[in-house]
Amino acid sequence: MIDNIGLLVTCDPEQGEGPLGLLRDAAIVVDGDRVAAIERAGATADEQLDVEGRCVIPGFVDSHTHLVFAGDRADEFAARMAGRPYAASGITVTTEATRAATEEELRALAAARRAEAVSAGITHLEIKSGYGLETETERRLCAVAGEFTGDVTFLGAHAVPPEYEGRADEYVDLVCGEMLEACRPLARWIDVFCEEGAFDADQSRRVLEAGRDAGLGLRVHGNQLGFGEGVRLAVELGAASVDHCTYMTDDDVAALAGGDTVATFLPATDFSTRQPYPDARRAIDAGVSVAVATNCNPGSSYTTSMAFCIALAVRDMHMTPEEALLAATRGGARALRRDDVGRLAPGARADAVILDCPSYTHLVYRPGVPLVGTTMIAGRVAYAGTQHLR
Ligand code: NIG
Repeated sequence: MIDNIGLLVTCDPEQGEGPLGLLRDAAIVVDGDRVAAIERAGATADEQLDVEGRCVIPGFVDSHTHLVFAGDRADEFAARMAGRPYAASGITVTTEATRAATEEELRALAAARRAEAVSAGITHLEIKSGYGLETETERRLCAVAGEFTGDVTFLGAHAVPPEYEGRADEYVDLVCGEMLEACRPLARWIDVFCEEGAFDADQSRRVLEAGRDAGLGLRVHGNQLGFGEGVRLAVELGAASVDHCTYMTDDDVAALAGGDTVATFLPATDFSTRQPYPDARRAIDAGVSVAVATNCNPGSSYTTSMAFCIALAVRDMHMTPEEALLAATRGGARALRRDDVGRLAPGARADAVILDCPSYTHLVYRPGVPLVGTTMIAGRVAYAGTQHLR
């Protein structure tokens, strides 16, 4: 049991006050890997974790990561900060390093990044392939990703590899044929980078329809570097999520508001690529269901800090702290079509973060400060940091 919670954020309006389902002086009763009950503080239990009045939130659900890769692109980042624009072609730099790495090396790199994410309060994440761009490496990336999550996304259509330069349609044939066949048993989702310089709307549609026919759920990278058809294609095909959404027309926003697709914002990407931030206010006010994720990858967003993403979402995308926290928990779960994570309620997975502060607002108010004291995943302490403040 987690007892003496000063402020419990359940992210489930049925459990408490307001959209965040807030409760004061509460306790979470855990049975095995699940939440058994939410009670008043001071209830008795066999095992007790006394959090001495701290704030407890659901673990963050990071619905967009590219965690399995080798190599480093710090020089590219530095050049960008000196004025060079971000280009999707950087993906192939990581592809070269990833193809050269062994499966053991990839596993060790992914494990270290996953541990970093857990220490930042992320208790569930989606992981994409996409730095192999050839059948055997894509298969290997999906296999390694599957050791860390049930939400593996096959992203063979991340970029056209150099050996297919000028032959993008032939590469799409490979993705929709042999590569999909090899990765399908290892993945839950398929994704495509629908953007100028990557795959156009017709090619993206082919990839998504092939994935759907193979039994995979759909996700789309869209509208990251400019206006385009990604958002509307995602909504038309019933994708669970369209991610980035930095450039959206009123028609894009209206399509999202009338559809079943979550708009996932990736503000650390816009920060790291010096892009404008998405207009989250306009989307939320129109009734769009939104998520916030880290997009941890070596090129456009090398962070596992969901708190940083939340701070950007509030400071630069004009979300309220409540909206941003919901988007990083329940919103991420919705983007993965899951109900078992992203909230603290009876029956949900016991994934909780004990913050070393009295309120979730501190995630924004104290940017850059490691406020995650303890991370619990499925009822077990997965990370115990220094609890220095209350
Ligand atoms: O989501 N946009 C496409 N893929 C990644 C970037 C990958 C890279 O630059 O290596 C993204 O931002």
